[in-house]
Amino acid sequence: MKNDSQNITLIINGVSKSLSVGKKESLLDALRSASYFSVKSGCDSGDCGVCTILMEGRPVRSCMIRAMEADGVNITTVEGLSQGEKLHPIQEAFIETGAVQCGFCTPSQVLVAKALLDENPNPSEEEVRGAMSGVLCRCTGYVRTTEAVLRAAAVLREGETEPVMIPQQILPAESKQITLPEAYYRKGGNTAPLPPLVFTPQEMSQTQVIGKPEVKVDAEKLVRGRPVFADDQQPEGLLYGALLTSPHAHARIVNIDASQARAMPGVHAVLTYEDIPRIKYASGGQSYPQPPPYDQVCLDNKVRHVGDRVAVVAAETKYLAENALRLIHVEYELLPLVLDPVEAMQEDAPVIHDEPDTEGIYDSQHNVVHRIDAQVGDVETAFSSAEHVLEGEYHTPKQQQAHLETHVCITYWDEDDRLVIRSSTQVPFHIRRMVAPLIGLPVKRIRVIKPRIGGGFGNKQELILEDLCAHLTLKTGRPVRMELTRRQEFSSTRSRHPNLVRYKIGVTNGKLVAADLYLLGDTGAYGAHGLTVQMVGGFKGLTLYNPPNARFVSDVVYTNKPPTGAFRGYGAMQCQFGIEVLMEEIAEQLNLDVVEFKRDNWLKIGEPMHMAKVLGEGREGFEQMLESSALEQCVDIGLEAMDFYAKREANRRQSGHLRRGMGIAVVMHGSGIAGLDMAAATLKMNDDGSFNLLMGATDLGTGSDTILAQIAAESLGIPVDDLIVYSSDTDFTPFDKGAYASSTTYISGGAVRKAALKIKIQIQEHAALMLDLDDPAKLELKDRKVLAPDGRSLTLEEVALNSLHQMNQHQIMATASHMSYKSPPPTAAQFAEIAVDIETGQITVERLLMVVDCGRVINPITAAGQVEGGMAQALGFALTEDMIFDVEGHLVNDRFGPYHIFKADEMPVMDVIFVQTDDPSGPYGAKSVAEISIDGVAPALVSALHDATSVWVRELPLYPEQVWQALQRKTDKEINNA
Ligand code: FES
Repeated sequence: MKNDSQNITLIINGVSKSLSVGKKESLLDALRSASYFSVKSGCDSGDCGVCTILMEGRPVRSCMIRAMEADGVNITTVEGLSQGEKLHPIQEAFIETGAVQCGFCTPSQVLVAKALLDENPNPSEEEVRGAMSGVLCRCTGYVRTTEAVLRAAAVLREGETEPVMIPQQILPAESKQITLPEAYYRKGGNTAPLPPLVFTPQEMSQTQVIGKPEVKVDAEKLVRGRPVFADDQQPEGLLYGALLTSPHAHARIVNIDASQARAMPGVHAVLTYEDIPRIKYASGGQSYPQPPPYDQVCLDNKVRHVGDRVAVVAAETKYLAENALRLIHVEYELLPLVLDPVEAMQEDAPVIHDEPDTEGIYDSQHNVVHRIDAQVGDVETAFSSAEHVLEGEYHTPKQQQAHLETHVCITYWDEDDRLVIRSSTQVPFHIRRMVAPLIGLPVKRIRVIKPRIGGGFGNKQELILEDLCAHLTLKTGRPVRMELTRRQEFSSTRSRHPNLVRYKIGVTNGKLVAADLYLLGDTGAYGAHGLTVQMVGGFKGLTLYNPPNARFVSDVVYTNKPPTGAFRGYGAMQCQFGIEVLMEEIAEQLNLDVVEFKRDNWLKIGEPMHMAKVLGEGREGFEQMLESSALEQCVDIGLEAMDFYAKREANRRQSGHLRRGMGIAVVMHGSGIAGLDMAAATLKMNDDGSFNLLMGATDLGTGSDTILAQIAAESLGIPVDDLIVYSSDTDFTPFDKGAYASSTTYISGGAVRKAALKIKIQIQEHAALMLDLDDPAKLELKDRKVLAPDGRSLTLEEVALNSLHQMNQHQIMATASHMSYKSPPPTAAQFAEIAVDIETGQITVERLLMVVDCGRVINPITAAGQVEGGMAQALGFALTEDMIFDVEGHLVNDRFGPYHIFKADEMPVMDVIFVQTDDPSGPYGAKSVAEISIDGVAPALVSALHDATSVWVRELPLYPEQVWQALQRKTDKEINNA
């Protein structure tokens, strides 16, 4: 029995259950304590909906209900939906349509759908979106979830429906020949979710498994709500850790008294800076050696932002741990603070890192952590001789990753006295290497397990909890679990760098001859990723149009705000926002067609990327050239699908308070970090001809396990189902740098392909032995068989059994590593159609279309999911998401709602079209797709806003009041484009 507990009896999934629950315990916690792990915790304030269950058939948020109040009620969780092996049709539809990405929101989405369909078997799309709006999803953009519910409704009504099909078209040789299936023109108010459309060049080779919409290898367990996330498996004797954070933006800790907390019964450890060795580190999970500065310690005697770490506690229960935090008395000496990066660089600004033991800060007295200065060509001469020189300054917001699963970590000693860290991390191998010196253990005594991850988007490419949790286990000898609250997610983790982006561009005869980019990056209180994010920004922001004379200067500046870090888009989206809007402004000023102006200037196949050598990622880069691109075709297909020019023409003649606008942006990204990223994969053949695929690659919900399995399956002539995929565990899977930099398909995929080709050779050699043939290379692997030219064949099972038990006995297995000195850019055209109310400044986005060249599309459904999810996050970046601080540095919107991420019923129509290319260095021609998807929405919306109103807004987000104010500066005549 828990303290203050009472027994309640309730019916859970049709079975009567008696639970002992605490007085203040939420129903969410009670259900999870009783092993109903499908019920997730995302905010504890009723805002996100991932804790939704059905109570008497109605969706309710279990975090908002006291467990004691649930006595006698009838509850359904997703564990009760399927009957044995048989999934519920809603679960099946979620799998078939690709509605499951990280899967953290999926159990609650499925339950909400069930409640809807029980009441309304034939809902409209609008009714589906309305019902689903109660559960936030940060991964999908709600396209496939909406499709899944409509599909499940049809199945429940009619018995079955058509299989999910991916429409394919041969890419015509000329743009004027482009036509699309009728639905993709979106005529007549058609808003139904569409599958991605795939254009393929005639000459591209055929594949068997690659290019097919294989269902995700982890989809079934996620849709069943199985205990696969970090917090879903809890060892015996678990203690609950909790983190005390700073209420002040800048202060020195004069005294810290934890005696009362330590004396509390049930409290096993309280650690402050006095208890932990002072070892400097950089928290960004990057390859060795990590870029400087090493400006953090596990716990410090100074705090530099509200939310900074102060102390940690481990106690018998979550509630005891939280109570113990309140008994730690901290005396602070408040210091002057600075929140603005420009002010932070001034002479009299407070010095945020005045400690003597941080090395590698460029100018600590002025809070400048890095200054980057890189140049190619002769910029000054090029500007002086340019026909036109134009400038623009742009501002981007501090956006939070807002993955639905907060940071969670469990640490414990195993039976061999090795420390196990089970963590929701994107970088298990980097974490192991980084934690070791902080806790005083050698790497060999640490094992990091990465289970399924409920989204990360860069925020889990960081050391956030693992060191503190490990210290608590070291201190207590007990397993310890730490989980951040949603408020801590906002103020104690990482976010996107807010940037000032200032471009100066020289143009002669419609061609860019010179560019100067100044980037001011606000890194917050610590410098994690500060250097590399800006370098990527400079590289991509000066390479999209690739002028031969270019200069990049960046200041990365400390402020007393929560630190920034890695976030999908990683500097590139901020700079591409700037250059794309400026290109529009230049086209307007020079009276050029903006599409043709961009077309004349964007990077083309065969061209060297001028900045590649001088701007690597944290170090010097490598010469690179563009080897594949379908940007021309992406733009032309998008122009056709959107009826771009006709609509722009019509928009010139509109009147009234609602104005329509059509926008375009073009973008590029990369595929891994050239010359740095490395991944490895292992394949092992089993008795039945199946294979274990062991990878350090880290699927954080993107579907990378699935597409890597498709690459292996294609190489071995087997179905994906014959691969047992496991990622990632530092004890059992080979090294991989982790999931970031759009590297998994390209780099990890390269490793999988190499390992599979090694295995193929071993199979051929053994089969040749069995068939007494001289030339193994002539044997073909297809349909789980080895086919000989003389018509004989062996099954893979026969080869496996023979090699393990009979002839020349050995294990058929291989490990391969892969790295690349190239990072082939995916390219894309982003289109946006909006309506703006010129009386209020309110923008309504009606349609987003992204036409993407990501090389060969390994899996069109998972790739489309990446693009849709990226566009949804980009909508927030462009319209609603910014972390707002008061003058004392307190974040005022540290919960969902005030921090507005889009819900299902707020989304525009979103379409995805792929134009395949066959990149010569990618596995089967693949490049990347995860990050390019986020780059183009903001500039496309500004482009559309200008089309609608002739107003340029250069600061994001495009809040209505900001748009309205910009409109006030224009005359009616100007707004009417007259
Ligand atoms: Fe919805 Fe990840 S799939 S939050």
